[in-house]
Amino acid sequence: MRAVGYSLRTALADIVDNSLAARARAIEILFESGPTPYIAVLDDGEGMDARAAREAMQLAGRSSLSDRDSSDLGRFGLGLKTASLSQCRQLTVVSKQSSTLVGLEWDLDHIAQANEWSLNVLDLDEIEVVPGFARLAEQESGTLVVWRRLDRLLEAGGDSADHLDAAMVDARDHLSLVFHRFLSGDDAPRVALSVNEVSIDPVDPFLTKSRRTQASRKEDIAYQGAAIEVRAFTLPFINKMTRRERELAAVAGALRDSQGFYIYRGARLVIWGTWFRLMPKSESGKLTRVRVDIPNSLDHLWSLDIKKSSAVPPAAVRARLRELATTMAEPGRKAISFRGRKAAEEDAVIRPWELVLDRDSFRYGINRNHPMLGGFVDGLEPYQVAQFDAVLRVLEGTFPVQDLHNRMSNDQVSSQATEDLAELRAALQSMWASTAVRRETVEGFVERMVGHEPFDLLRGEQQSLISALQEQEAERATAR
Ligand SMILES: Nc1ncnc2c1ncn2[C@@H]1O[C@H](COP(=O)(O)OP(=O)(O)OP(=O)(O)O)[C@@H](O)[C@H]1O
Ligand SMILES: [Mg+2]
Repeated sequence: MRAVGYSLRTALADIVDNSLAARARAIEILFESGPTPYIAVLDDGEGMDARAAREAMQLAGRSSLSDRDSSDLGRFGLGLKTASLSQCRQLTVVSKQSSTLVGLEWDLDHIAQANEWSLNVLDLDEIEVVPGFARLAEQESGTLVVWRRLDRLLEAGGDSADHLDAAMVDARDHLSLVFHRFLSGDDAPRVALSVNEVSIDPVDPFLTKSRRTQASRKEDIAYQGAAIEVRAFTLPFINKMTRRERELAAVAGALRDSQGFYIYRGARLVIWGTWFRLMPKSESGKLTRVRVDIPNSLDHLWSLDIKKSSAVPPAAVRARLRELATTMAEPGRKAISFRGRKAAEEDAVIRPWELVLDRDSFRYGINRNHPMLGGFVDGLEPYQVAQFDAVLRVLEGTFPVQDLHNRMSNDQVSSQATEDLAELRAALQSMWASTAVRRETVEGFVERMVGHEPFDLLRGEQQSLISALQEQEAERATAR
């Protein structure tokens, strides 16, 4: 039973699940790495009476087949015991309701000695010394779960308090993601969660607070009388994210690894960052995350595991998810990929760089038709034009594609994009000034240029550009 495969983070999440199911609104994790380490989870939920507490300490005290309230995060009737005893040898549960107080304890050493499943029933004296009890006593109702003799954690860290502290930091990060919808109270009841009185902030993997995140429409997949809700999010382009947003968004390692489905069961994140082998993770999908909300009535179909850390979509749902994921990932791909020469022609904007697709390879070329190059070459002698073309070909041929790929896949941010509008305006002015033979009007010139990257950034200020160039023109005329 101890070897189900829990880690501290998944075990703690399982205890928090129980508190949420008991409608707790404040959950405190108390943690002591000192000489007698313990971890306690105190909630202000409904609590249990003596009978309910006894059932709670039983393995599968409730059938896994029974229907559950839609907000119940439990399923198997095992979590409290398996999660706790995976981490410690002594599990104490103290619960309070208005008129009752009950304390029960599984002690693995006592069980081994007695050679039977004998449950300790604590008397008031014993309850009073359980760490965290003073806090519970102040509350109307609630439950306190305490893990003592943390042998697994101590074994792993060679008895060092540092190891415990580090494990706790890791658990904290996990909770901030798994329960983010409760922590923010956006579409779940708002719950306060803290570790040693420091509150845990939500980590929203879709950066929904950022106005640059794009969200698709919600889609429902109807399945066996229940609805699975699907919604895709395209994160802001990496250059547009703040450093903090990049950190928050990298929930499963690098951004590329964090793409995929995010499966929620009762608003609690169960699995994330996987396409379930429906499609491979790709560089072009790295901004795409598809939120899937499944109701707990479909647990049996998703092969949910005891730790609530894995689940597999049923076959009928898989087909629909694949379709949705492919279309929903489209905006993300668009944001990231550079379109080929053909496709680019259909684009409103003409770029200085173009993607040239050969049969099974690609390269980047400099677009000789871009007006900036055209304007430059116009005034040159033929031998200079040839020389210039040779320079361009060398630049094209030595573009550091591999280095670029390495950096981008490590989520490094490129500062290359020219967004300095003043610089762009100046470039336009100097182009206008150096055009040897005027074949067009100022209006025509400005109109043409804003159709070309990067001058398309100046769209919307054509009028003021035109006036500026006309002024420049008038000054030149008077100078002459
Ligand atoms: N903090 C709590 N407050 C109130 N009742 C609780 C609390 N923790 C556990 N219980 C009760 O104990 C029962 C057993 O909990 P346990 O976690 O072992 O199983 P479960 O939550 O029913 O299912 P699962 O194995 O999926 O977690 C719960 O169904 C609930 O009735
Ligand atoms: Mg549970």
